[in-house]
Amino acid sequence: MLPKSRTFANRKAGSIHKMIHIQQHTSLQSFNTFGVDVEADYFARFQSEEELMALLSSPEIPIHVTSDYAHQKKILLLGAGSNILLTKDVEGVVLKNEIDGINSVHEDDDYVYLKAGAGVVWHELVLYCVEHNLGGVENLSLIPGTVGAAPIQNIGAYGVELKDSFYTLRALDIQEKEWLNFSNHDCQFGYRSSIFKTKLKNRVIITSVTFKLTKKHQLHLSYGAIKERLTLMGIDDPTIKDVSDAVIAIRQSKLPDPHKIGNAGSFFKNPVVSAEVVEHLMQIFPDLVSNKSGDGFKLAAGWLIEKAGWKGYREGQVGCYDKQALVLVNYGGASGAEIVALSQKIQQSVRDKFGIFLEPEVNFV
Ligand code: FAD
Ligand code: EPU
Repeated sequence: MLPKSRTFANRKAGSIHKMIHIQQHTSLQSFNTFGVDVEADYFARFQSEEELMALLSSPEIPIHVTSDYAHQKKILLLGAGSNILLTKDVEGVVLKNEIDGINSVHEDDDYVYLKAGAGVVWHELVLYCVEHNLGGVENLSLIPGTVGAAPIQNIGAYGVELKDSFYTLRALDIQEKEWLNFSNHDCQFGYRSSIFKTKLKNRVIITSVTFKLTKKHQLHLSYGAIKERLTLMGIDDPTIKDVSDAVIAIRQSKLPDPHKIGNAGSFFKNPVVSAEVVEHLMQIFPDLVSNKSGDGFKLAAGWLIEKAGWKGYREGQVGCYDKQALVLVNYGGASGAEIVALSQKIQQSVRDKFGIFLEPEVNFV
Protein backbone atom coordinates (compact mmCIF):
# COMPACT_ATOMS: atom_id res chain seq x y z
CA MET A 1 0.00 0.00 0.00
CA LEU A 2 1.22 3.51 -0.79
CA PRO A 3 2.20 5.65 2.17
CA LYS A 4 -0.15 8.60 2.93
CA SER A 5 2.61 11.13 2.37
CA ARG A 6 6.24 11.20 1.52
CA THR A 7 9.20 13.49 1.22
CA PHE A 8 11.79 13.19 -1.49
CA ALA A 9 14.70 15.06 -2.91
CA ASN A 10 14.06 16.04 -6.51
CA ARG A 11 17.34 15.40 -8.27
CA LYS A 12 15.89 16.02 -11.74
CA ALA A 13 15.35 19.67 -10.94
CA GLY A 14 18.91 19.87 -9.71
CA SER A 15 17.84 20.89 -6.24
CA ILE A 16 18.95 17.89 -4.30
CA HIS A 17 18.46 19.57 -0.96
CA LYS A 18 15.07 21.04 -1.80
CA MET A 19 12.60 18.78 -0.10
CA ILE A 20 9.16 18.50 -1.62
CA HIS A 21 6.41 17.01 0.44
CA ILE A 22 3.58 15.32 -1.43
CA GLN A 23 0.55 14.17 0.53
CA GLN A 24 -2.11 11.80 -0.69
CA HIS A 25 -5.83 11.72 0.12
CA THR A 26 -5.69 15.06 1.87
CA SER A 27 -8.73 16.84 3.30
CA LEU A 28 -9.11 20.36 1.87
CA GLN A 29 -11.45 21.55 4.64
CA SER A 30 -8.93 23.92 6.19
CA PHE A 31 -7.80 25.18 2.76
CA ASN A 32 -11.07 26.78 1.63
CA THR A 33 -12.95 29.56 3.44
CA PHE A 34 -16.32 27.88 2.84
CA GLY A 35 -14.92 25.08 5.02
CA VAL A 36 -16.19 22.37 2.68
CA ASP A 37 -14.67 18.98 3.37
CA VAL A 38 -13.54 17.22 0.21
CA GLU A 39 -10.38 15.27 -0.50
CA ALA A 40 -7.54 15.76 -2.99
CA ASP A 41 -5.77 12.76 -4.52
CA TYR A 42 -2.49 14.65 -4.14
CA PHE A 43 -1.60 17.81 -2.26
CA ALA A 44 1.68 19.75 -2.24
CA ARG A 45 2.90 23.22 -1.33
CA PHE A 46 5.57 25.18 -3.19
CA GLN A 47 7.60 28.09 -1.88
CA SER A 48 9.61 28.96 -4.98
CA GLU A 49 9.47 28.68 -8.76
CA GLU A 50 12.10 25.92 -8.54
CA GLU A 51 9.89 23.88 -6.22
CA LEU A 52 6.94 24.42 -8.55
CA MET A 53 8.95 23.18 -11.56
CA ALA A 54 10.16 20.21 -9.56
CA LEU A 55 6.59 19.31 -8.61
CA LEU A 56 5.33 19.58 -12.18
CA SER A 57 8.04 17.25 -13.45
CA SER A 58 7.78 14.90 -10.50
CA PRO A 59 7.10 11.26 -11.34
CA GLU A 60 5.36 11.06 -7.96
CA ILE A 61 2.34 12.99 -9.24
CA PRO A 62 0.48 11.72 -12.30
CA ILE A 63 -0.15 15.04 -14.03
CA HIS A 64 -1.31 14.57 -17.60
CA VAL A 65 -1.22 17.86 -19.43
CA THR A 66 -2.89 17.74 -22.80
CA SER A 67 -3.89 20.44 -25.24
CA ASP A 68 -7.48 19.68 -24.27
CA TYR A 69 -7.39 21.44 -20.92
CA ALA A 70 -10.92 20.46 -20.00
CA HIS A 71 -9.94 16.81 -19.90
CA GLN A 72 -6.46 16.95 -18.49
CA LYS A 73 -5.71 15.36 -15.15
CA LYS A 74 -6.68 18.18 -12.91
CA ILE A 75 -4.21 20.61 -11.40
CA LEU A 76 -5.96 22.90 -8.96
CA LEU A 77 -3.94 25.96 -8.03
CA LEU A 78 -4.82 27.12 -4.58
CA GLY A 79 -4.09 30.36 -2.78
CA ALA A 80 -6.12 30.89 0.38
CA GLY A 81 -9.23 29.18 -1.04
CA SER A 82 -11.39 32.28 -0.44
CA ASN A 83 -13.04 32.33 -3.85
CA ILE A 84 -13.69 28.68 -4.59
CA LEU A 85 -16.55 26.28 -3.98
CA LEU A 86 -15.41 22.67 -3.84
CA THR A 87 -18.27 20.51 -5.05
CA LYS A 88 -16.49 17.15 -5.17
CA ASP A 89 -13.22 15.39 -4.39
CA VAL A 90 -10.34 16.68 -6.51
CA GLU A 91 -9.19 13.90 -8.80
CA GLY A 92 -5.71 15.18 -9.37
CA VAL A 93 -3.30 17.42 -7.60
CA VAL A 94 -3.82 20.51 -5.50
CA LEU A 95 -0.79 22.81 -5.57
CA LYS A 96 -0.79 25.41 -2.80
CA ASN A 97 1.13 28.54 -3.63
CA GLU A 98 3.30 29.76 -0.74
CA ILE A 99 5.86 31.88 -2.63
CA ASP A 100 6.73 34.68 -0.21
CA GLY A 101 8.59 38.01 -0.38
CA ILE A 102 7.93 41.70 -1.04
CA ASN A 103 10.70 43.71 -2.74
CA SER A 104 11.04 47.15 -4.25
CA VAL A 105 12.35 46.63 -7.79
CA HIS A 106 12.32 50.19 -9.16
CA GLU A 107 11.54 53.72 -8.09
CA ASP A 108 11.12 57.08 -9.84
CA ASP A 109 9.87 60.51 -8.73
CA ASP A 110 6.23 59.45 -8.66
CA TYR A 111 6.09 55.68 -8.19
CA VAL A 112 7.57 52.71 -6.37
CA TYR A 113 7.40 49.34 -8.12
CA LEU A 114 6.91 46.50 -5.64
CA LYS A 115 7.23 42.87 -6.58
CA ALA A 116 5.39 40.40 -4.34
CA GLY A 117 5.50 36.62 -4.32
CA ALA A 118 2.17 35.08 -5.36
CA GLY A 119 1.78 33.40 -1.98
CA VAL A 120 1.95 36.64 0.03
CA VAL A 121 -1.29 37.26 1.93
CA TRP A 122 -3.05 40.10 0.10
CA HIS A 123 -3.88 42.11 3.22
CA GLU A 124 -0.26 41.86 4.39
CA LEU A 125 0.82 43.47 1.14
CA VAL A 126 -1.74 46.25 1.72
CA LEU A 127 -0.47 46.80 5.28
CA TYR A 128 3.12 46.87 3.98
CA CYS A 129 2.15 49.56 1.44
CA VAL A 130 0.27 51.62 4.02
CA GLU A 131 3.18 51.38 6.46
CA HIS A 132 5.64 52.53 3.77
CA ASN A 133 3.27 55.28 2.57
CA LEU A 134 2.76 53.71 -0.87
CA GLY A 135 -0.66 54.46 -2.30
CA GLY A 136 -3.08 52.61 -4.58
CA VAL A 137 -4.25 49.53 -2.72
CA GLU A 138 -5.60 51.02 0.55
CA ASN A 139 -9.24 50.69 -0.60
CA LEU A 140 -8.57 46.96 -1.10
CA SER A 141 -7.76 46.42 2.59
CA LEU A 142 -8.85 43.21 4.28
CA ILE A 143 -9.79 41.33 1.10
CA PRO A 144 -8.91 37.71 1.91
CA GLY A 145 -6.62 35.68 -0.30
CA THR A 146 -3.20 35.78 -1.88
CA VAL A 147 -1.38 38.18 -4.18
CA GLY A 148 -1.25 35.54 -6.93
CA ALA A 149 -5.03 35.10 -7.04
CA ALA A 150 -5.77 38.84 -7.00
CA PRO A 151 -5.36 39.32 -10.79
CA ILE A 152 -7.52 36.27 -11.59
CA GLN A 153 -10.76 38.16 -10.92
CA ASN A 154 -9.21 41.65 -10.75
CA ILE A 155 -10.22 42.03 -7.11
CA GLY A 156 -12.11 45.18 -6.32
CA ALA A 157 -13.74 47.09 -3.50
CA TYR A 158 -14.81 50.61 -2.56
CA GLY A 159 -14.26 52.17 -5.98
CA VAL A 160 -10.84 50.65 -6.72
CA GLU A 161 -9.70 47.54 -8.60
CA LEU A 162 -6.43 45.66 -8.69
CA LYS A 163 -5.87 46.83 -12.29
CA ASP A 164 -5.47 50.42 -11.02
CA SER A 165 -2.12 49.61 -9.37
CA PHE A 166 -1.14 46.48 -11.28
CA TYR A 167 2.05 46.73 -13.34
CA THR A 168 3.06 43.25 -14.48
CA LEU A 169 3.02 39.58 -13.48
CA ARG A 170 5.05 36.48 -14.10
CA ALA A 171 3.41 33.14 -14.75
CA LEU A 172 4.19 29.66 -15.92
CA ASP A 173 2.36 28.21 -18.91
CA ILE A 174 1.51 24.75 -17.57
CA GLN A 175 1.52 22.97 -20.90
CA GLU A 176 4.51 24.63 -22.54
CA LYS A 177 6.49 24.88 -19.28
CA GLU A 178 7.37 28.36 -20.44
CA TRP A 179 7.70 31.51 -18.30
CA LEU A 180 5.53 34.43 -19.43
CA ASN A 181 5.23 38.09 -18.45
CA PHE A 182 1.86 39.85 -18.65
CA SER A 183 1.46 43.62 -18.78
CA ASN A 184 -1.67 45.36 -17.49
CA HIS A 185 -3.03 45.41 -21.05
CA ASP A 186 -2.26 41.70 -21.61
CA CYS A 187 -4.36 40.72 -18.60
CA GLN A 188 -7.60 42.02 -20.20
CA PHE A 189 -8.94 43.12 -16.84
CA GLY A 190 -12.66 43.74 -16.46
CA TYR A 191 -15.20 43.74 -13.64
CA ARG A 192 -14.33 40.57 -11.65
CA SER A 193 -12.64 39.22 -14.75
CA SER A 194 -9.32 38.82 -16.57
CA ILE A 195 -7.77 36.66 -19.27
CA PHE A 196 -7.00 34.13 -16.50
CA LYS A 197 -10.73 33.57 -15.93
CA THR A 198 -11.48 33.37 -19.64
CA LYS A 199 -9.05 32.43 -22.44
CA LEU A 200 -6.26 31.25 -20.12
CA LYS A 201 -8.44 29.63 -17.44
CA ASN A 202 -6.43 26.90 -15.68
CA ARG A 203 -3.55 27.33 -18.13
CA VAL A 204 -1.06 29.41 -16.16
CA ILE A 205 0.33 29.56 -12.65
CA ILE A 206 1.05 33.08 -11.41
CA THR A 207 4.22 33.21 -9.31
CA SER A 208 4.74 36.95 -8.72
CA VAL A 209 2.98 40.26 -9.27
CA THR A 210 4.57 43.72 -9.57
CA PHE A 211 2.59 46.79 -8.49
CA LYS A 212 3.00 50.45 -9.41
CA LEU A 213 2.33 52.39 -6.22
CA THR A 214 2.06 56.13 -5.76
CA LYS A 215 4.26 58.44 -3.72
CA LYS A 216 1.84 61.34 -4.38
CA HIS A 217 -1.50 59.87 -3.53
CA GLN A 218 -4.87 60.19 -5.19
CA LEU A 219 -7.44 59.12 -2.65
CA HIS A 220 -10.60 57.37 -3.82
CA LEU A 221 -13.37 58.44 -1.48
CA SER A 222 -16.25 58.30 -3.97
CA TYR A 223 -17.82 55.28 -2.27
CA GLY A 224 -20.21 57.02 0.13
CA ALA A 225 -19.61 54.69 3.04
CA ILE A 226 -15.91 55.66 3.20
CA LYS A 227 -16.67 59.35 3.62
CA GLU A 228 -19.29 58.57 6.25
CA ARG A 229 -16.90 56.37 8.17
CA LEU A 230 -14.09 58.97 8.02
CA THR A 231 -16.51 61.58 9.38
CA LEU A 232 -17.47 59.18 12.18
CA MET A 233 -13.75 58.80 12.89
CA GLY A 234 -13.46 62.61 13.04
CA ILE A 235 -11.08 62.79 10.05
CA ASP A 236 -11.45 65.46 7.35
CA ASP A 237 -7.99 65.29 5.73
CA PRO A 238 -7.38 61.53 5.45
CA THR A 239 -4.10 59.72 4.87
CA ILE A 240 -3.95 56.37 3.07
CA LYS A 241 -3.80 54.75 6.53
CA ASP A 242 -7.07 56.48 7.47
CA VAL A 243 -8.71 55.20 4.28
CA SER A 244 -7.42 51.69 4.98
CA ASP A 245 -8.75 51.85 8.57
CA ALA A 246 -12.13 53.10 7.35
CA VAL A 247 -12.42 50.29 4.80
CA ILE A 248 -11.45 47.71 7.42
CA ALA A 249 -14.12 49.01 9.80
CA ILE A 250 -16.83 48.99 7.09
CA ARG A 251 -15.94 45.48 5.98
CA GLN A 252 -15.90 44.13 9.54
CA SER A 253 -19.37 45.57 10.13
CA LYS A 254 -21.05 43.70 7.30
CA LEU A 255 -19.02 40.76 6.00
CA PRO A 256 -18.77 37.48 7.91
CA ASP A 257 -15.32 36.47 9.15
CA PRO A 258 -14.54 33.17 7.37
CA HIS A 259 -12.77 31.95 10.51
CA LYS A 260 -16.16 32.03 12.23
CA ILE A 261 -18.70 31.40 9.43
CA GLY A 262 -17.76 29.70 6.17
CA ASN A 263 -18.18 31.92 3.11
CA ALA A 264 -16.41 33.16 -0.03
CA GLY A 265 -17.50 36.82 -0.03
CA SER A 266 -19.96 37.85 -2.74
CA PHE A 267 -21.32 34.64 -4.24
CA PHE A 268 -22.59 36.34 -7.41
CA LYS A 269 -21.38 39.25 -9.50
CA ASN A 270 -23.44 42.42 -9.62
CA PRO A 271 -25.27 42.11 -12.97
CA VAL A 272 -24.51 44.78 -15.57
CA VAL A 273 -27.56 45.68 -17.67
CA SER A 274 -28.63 48.28 -20.23
CA ALA A 275 -30.30 51.63 -19.47
CA GLU A 276 -33.55 50.25 -20.96
CA VAL A 277 -33.60 47.35 -18.51
CA VAL A 278 -32.97 49.71 -15.56
CA GLU A 279 -35.74 52.06 -16.73
CA HIS A 280 -38.17 49.16 -17.07
CA LEU A 281 -37.32 47.75 -13.63
CA MET A 282 -37.51 51.20 -12.01
CA GLN A 283 -41.12 51.52 -13.11
CA ILE A 284 -42.00 48.40 -11.14
CA PHE A 285 -39.37 48.73 -8.36
CA PRO A 286 -38.70 52.45 -7.81
CA ASP A 287 -36.19 51.75 -5.04
CA LEU A 288 -33.99 49.54 -7.28
CA VAL A 289 -30.28 50.08 -6.45
CA SER A 290 -28.13 50.64 -9.55
CA ASN A 291 -24.97 52.54 -10.55
CA LYS A 292 -23.64 53.69 -13.90
CA SER A 293 -20.92 51.30 -15.05
CA GLY A 294 -19.27 51.79 -18.44
CA ASP A 295 -21.98 51.75 -21.09
CA GLY A 296 -24.50 50.09 -18.80
CA PHE A 297 -25.71 49.97 -15.21
CA LYS A 298 -24.59 47.71 -12.41
CA LEU A 299 -27.46 46.40 -10.30
CA ALA A 300 -26.89 45.63 -6.62
CA ALA A 301 -27.29 41.85 -6.56
CA GLY A 302 -27.58 42.02 -2.74
CA TRP A 303 -30.67 44.22 -3.15
CA LEU A 304 -32.24 41.84 -5.72
CA ILE A 305 -31.63 38.84 -3.43
CA GLU A 306 -32.94 40.67 -0.36
CA LYS A 307 -36.09 41.79 -2.23
CA ALA A 308 -36.61 38.22 -3.41
CA GLY A 309 -36.87 37.33 0.29
CA TRP A 310 -33.62 35.44 0.90
CA LYS A 311 -31.71 37.66 3.32
CA GLY A 312 -31.18 35.78 6.59
CA TYR A 313 -32.70 32.57 5.13
CA ARG A 314 -31.29 29.34 6.53
CA GLU A 315 -31.80 25.77 5.37
CA GLY A 316 -29.92 23.17 7.41
CA GLN A 317 -26.30 24.29 7.50
CA VAL A 318 -26.43 26.70 4.56
CA GLY A 319 -27.85 30.18 4.37
CA CYS A 320 -27.95 33.69 3.02
CA TYR A 321 -26.07 36.02 5.39
CA ASP A 322 -28.34 38.29 7.43
CA LYS A 323 -26.17 41.43 7.08
CA GLN A 324 -25.28 41.04 3.36
CA ALA A 325 -27.60 39.02 1.13
CA LEU A 326 -24.94 38.58 -1.57
CA VAL A 327 -22.92 36.33 0.76
CA LEU A 328 -23.90 32.65 1.08
CA VAL A 329 -22.70 30.93 4.23
CA ASN A 330 -21.86 27.50 5.58
CA TYR A 331 -22.76 27.35 9.26
CA GLY A 332 -20.64 24.20 9.55
CA GLY A 333 -20.64 20.83 7.85
CA ALA A 334 -22.48 21.80 4.66
CA SER A 335 -21.40 20.15 1.43
CA GLY A 336 -20.53 22.01 -1.76
CA ALA A 337 -23.64 20.46 -3.35
CA GLU A 338 -25.88 21.97 -0.65
CA ILE A 339 -24.38 25.42 -1.23
CA VAL A 340 -24.82 25.03 -5.00
CA ALA A 341 -28.46 23.96 -4.46
CA LEU A 342 -29.22 27.10 -2.42
CA SER A 343 -27.45 29.30 -4.98
CA GLN A 344 -29.59 27.82 -7.76
CA LYS A 345 -32.81 28.47 -5.84
CA ILE A 346 -31.73 32.09 -5.34
CA GLN A 347 -30.82 32.43 -9.02
CA GLN A 348 -34.20 31.04 -10.05
CA SER A 349 -36.23 33.29 -7.77
CA VAL A 350 -34.30 36.43 -8.81
CA ARG A 351 -34.87 35.47 -12.44
CA ASP A 352 -38.59 34.91 -11.78
CA LYS A 353 -39.05 38.21 -9.93
CA PHE A 354 -36.80 40.55 -11.92
CA GLY A 355 -35.89 38.69 -15.13
CA ILE A 356 -32.21 39.05 -14.18
CA PHE A 357 -29.58 36.29 -14.32
CA LEU A 358 -27.11 36.21 -11.46
CA GLU A 359 -23.72 34.93 -12.59
CA PRO A 360 -21.64 33.29 -9.85
CA GLU A 361 -18.44 35.11 -8.92
CA VAL A 362 -17.13 32.14 -6.96
CA ASN A 363 -15.13 29.50 -8.89
CA PHE A 364 -16.85 26.10 -8.82
CA VAL A 365 -14.43 23.18 -8.68
P1 FAD B 1 -8.32 30.98 -4.29
O1 FAD B 1 -9.74 30.93 -3.78
O2 FAD B 1 -7.35 30.03 -3.70
O3 FAD B 1 -8.35 30.78 -5.86
C1 FAD B 1 -9.28 31.50 -6.64
C2 FAD B 1 -9.08 31.11 -8.12
O4 FAD B 1 -7.81 31.55 -8.58
C3 FAD B 1 -9.08 29.59 -8.34
O5 FAD B 1 -9.66 29.36 -9.60
C4 FAD B 1 -7.61 29.23 -8.34
O6 FAD B 1 -7.33 28.05 -9.06
C5 FAD B 1 -6.98 30.44 -8.99
N1 FAD B 1 -5.64 30.74 -8.51
C6 FAD B 1 -5.28 31.02 -7.22
N2 FAD B 1 -3.97 31.32 -7.16
C7 FAD B 1 -3.48 31.22 -8.42
C8 FAD B 1 -2.18 31.40 -9.00
N3 FAD B 1 -1.14 31.75 -8.28
N4 FAD B 1 -2.05 31.21 -10.33
C9 FAD B 1 -3.11 30.85 -11.09
N5 FAD B 1 -4.35 30.66 -10.61
C10 FAD B 1 -4.55 30.85 -9.28
N6 FAD B 1 -13.05 39.66 -3.75
C11 FAD B 1 -13.07 40.91 -4.26
O7 FAD B 1 -12.73 41.11 -5.43
N7 FAD B 1 -13.47 41.98 -3.51
C12 FAD B 1 -13.86 41.85 -2.22
O8 FAD B 1 -14.20 42.83 -1.57
C13 FAD B 1 -13.85 40.54 -1.65
N8 FAD B 1 -14.26 40.35 -0.38
C14 FAD B 1 -14.25 39.09 0.16
C15 FAD B 1 -14.68 38.93 1.47
C16 FAD B 1 -14.67 37.67 2.07
C17 FAD B 1 -15.12 37.53 3.50
C18 FAD B 1 -14.23 36.55 1.32
C19 FAD B 1 -14.19 35.19 1.96
C20 FAD B 1 -13.84 36.70 -0.01
C21 FAD B 1 -13.84 37.97 -0.60
N9 FAD B 1 -13.45 38.19 -1.94
C22 FAD B 1 -13.43 39.45 -2.47
C23 FAD B 1 -13.05 37.04 -2.79
C24 FAD B 1 -11.56 36.63 -2.61
O9 FAD B 1 -11.02 37.22 -1.46
C25 FAD B 1 -10.70 37.03 -3.81
O10 FAD B 1 -11.22 36.51 -5.00
C26 FAD B 1 -9.25 36.57 -3.66
O11 FAD B 1 -8.45 37.15 -4.68
C27 FAD B 1 -9.09 35.05 -3.71
O12 FAD B 1 -7.77 34.74 -3.35
P2 FAD B 1 -7.35 33.28 -2.91
O13 FAD B 1 -5.88 33.25 -2.75
O14 FAD B 1 -8.15 32.86 -1.74
O15 FAD B 1 -7.77 32.46 -4.19
N1 EPU C 1 -27.77 45.79 -0.64
C1 EPU C 1 -29.01 45.46 -0.16
N2 EPU C 1 -29.12 44.36 0.63
C2 EPU C 1 -28.05 43.60 0.96
C3 EPU C 1 -26.77 43.94 0.46
C4 EPU C 1 -26.66 45.05 -0.35
O1 EPU C 1 -30.00 46.11 -0.43
O2 EPU C 1 -28.24 42.62 1.71
C5 EPU C 1 -27.65 47.00 -1.49
C6 EPU C 1 -27.50 48.27 -0.65
O3 EPU C 1 -28.24 49.29 -1.28
C7 EPU C 1 -26.03 48.60 -0.78
C8 EPU C 1 -25.69 48.06 -2.16
O4 EPU C 1 -26.52 46.91 -2.31
O5 EPU C 1 -25.80 49.96 -0.68
C9 EPU C 1 -24.21 47.68 -2.33
O6 EPU C 1 -23.83 46.84 -1.25
P1 EPU C 1 -22.31 46.77 -0.78
O7 EPU C 1 -21.77 48.14 -0.63
O8 EPU C 1 -22.25 45.87 0.40
O9 EPU C 1 -21.57 46.14 -2.00
P2 EPU C 1 -21.94 44.95 -2.98
O10 EPU C 1 -22.28 45.52 -4.31
O11 EPU C 1 -22.90 44.02 -2.36
C10 EPU C 1 -19.53 44.80 -3.92
C11 EPU C 1 -18.51 43.74 -4.17
C12 EPU C 1 -17.78 43.39 -2.89
C13 EPU C 1 -17.08 44.63 -2.38
C14 EPU C 1 -18.13 45.71 -2.13
C15 EPU C 1 -17.51 47.02 -1.72
C16 EPU C 1 -19.29 42.44 -6.06
C17 EPU C 1 -19.88 41.17 -6.53
N3 EPU C 1 -19.14 42.56 -4.74
O12 EPU C 1 -20.50 44.24 -3.07
O13 EPU C 1 -16.81 42.40 -3.20
O14 EPU C 1 -16.38 44.37 -1.20
O15 EPU C 1 -18.89 45.94 -3.34
O16 EPU C 1 -16.94 47.64 -2.82
O17 EPU C 1 -18.95 43.30 -6.87
C18 EPU C 1 -16.48 40.05 -3.37
O18 EPU C 1 -16.26 40.25 -4.57
O19 EPU C 1 -16.40 38.92 -2.84
C19 EPU C 1 -16.88 41.19 -2.54
C20 EPU C 1 -17.17 41.08 -1.25
